Amino acid sequence: MRVTPPDAITRVRRLGGGGLSCCLRMMMEEIPNLTAFDEDALDVAFAALALQAREEAAALSGEEAVEAFRLQWLGRKQGRLNEVSGRWMKAAPPEAKKALGLRFNALKAVVEALLGAALGAGLNASWGDAALAGEAIDITLPGTRRLTGAEHLITRTTNEIVSVFAALGYSVGVGPEVETDYYNFECMNFPPGHPARDTQDTLVIANQERRPQRDRLLLRTHTSPVQMRTMESQPPPVRIVIPGKVHRNDADDATHSSTFHQVEGLCVDTNITFSDLKGTLDYAMKALFGSAVKTRFFPSFFPFTEPSADLQISCIFCGGKGCRKCKQSGWIELLGCGMVDPAVFAFAAERQPAYDPKKISGFAFGMGSERIAMMKYGISEIGQFYAEDMRFLGQFV
Ligand code: PHE
Repeated sequence: MRVTPPDAITRVRRLGGGGLSCCLRMMMEEIPNLTAFDEDALDVAFAALALQAREEAAALSGEEAVEAFRLQWLGRKQGRLNEVSGRWMKAAPPEAKKALGLRFNALKAVVEALLGAALGAGLNASWGDAALAGEAIDITLPGTRRLTGAEHLITRTTNEIVSVFAALGYSVGVGPEVETDYYNFECMNFPPGHPARDTQDTLVIANQERRPQRDRLLLRTHTSPVQMRTMESQPPPVRIVIPGKVHRNDADDATHSSTFHQVEGLCVDTNITFSDLKGTLDYAMKALFGSAVKTRFFPSFFPFTEPSADLQISCIFCGGKGCRKCKQSGWIELLGCGMVDPAVFAFAAERQPAYDPKKISGFAFGMGSERIAMMKYGISEIGQFYAEDMRFLGQFV
């Protein structure tokens, strides 16, 4: 920043910052012609005007004086700024116009700020009381109350799930929501033509026909692609949980939403067995739903796990006796899981040879955050998570 040279100040005095006592016409004549347009000369000239405006503004008292100040400086036809921009700009050589314009805008901002402050002071204090005129804030007015934000239930539930696994030594990974066909399907061992690849389930990005199939972009339908992204970026052992948003071309109903959230899990090391999978998930379910909860595993199918299973927990509403929530079965299906399919390791081994299915093994699981939140907090409509209705959200603060 340039320091205003002392001679600019004397110049101001000479210009006669006489404030309101001067009449408008006299003021007009006080805009001197500029003869030098180098940066220093411009600085001096503009600093003088800014100082003059400040001095005048400081002496203002009363509405009329403020209006006179406004006309003197900002008046459309005869205001000083108009005069400055007209005369100085016209006289300036082309190469000085930019520097002049910059300083002009800065001066205008100063004058407008001074005017704003003078008007504000007028509204908040009685005119004529010089001490109060500077006080633009009425501290006796009540403050503005702002609502404090709170964690959304989905975020809270996701964090709860993640922290259960963090305590077991799992770290947290993330991946892109817009994913390639390769990561979402191909390397997860979905053979071409598998029903889940069908556009019925998958939201694909338009106009990619010219790209090879594996590079085409889509909204990921599950968090499983981050299993592969993780394995490609680090050799085993891996213990990771992956929270994230996923999308499917699903019709919305009480328990389904086309956009929802999952927490994926992956554990890879030497000698990982199905017992490890069972023990880990049994522990996690007890940590999430209480130690009385029982788990059981049913055969299932996922292309990327073999064997695959659905995990069911004993109904947390009736304790397993049978009720409406568990359709009288006493059990509630909660997540998909299984041992990582050797074909998936083979894809990972293309980048990280240590994922040799003969040497390592692992398990994976995936659960829906909404489903778990609905169970934990007794919510029957998934749409309430997204409706942004404070009457609903406020219950869980
Ligand atoms: N990705 C599966 C789904 O979205 C869930 C899953 C993850 C199943 C990991 C098994 C292993 O349905």
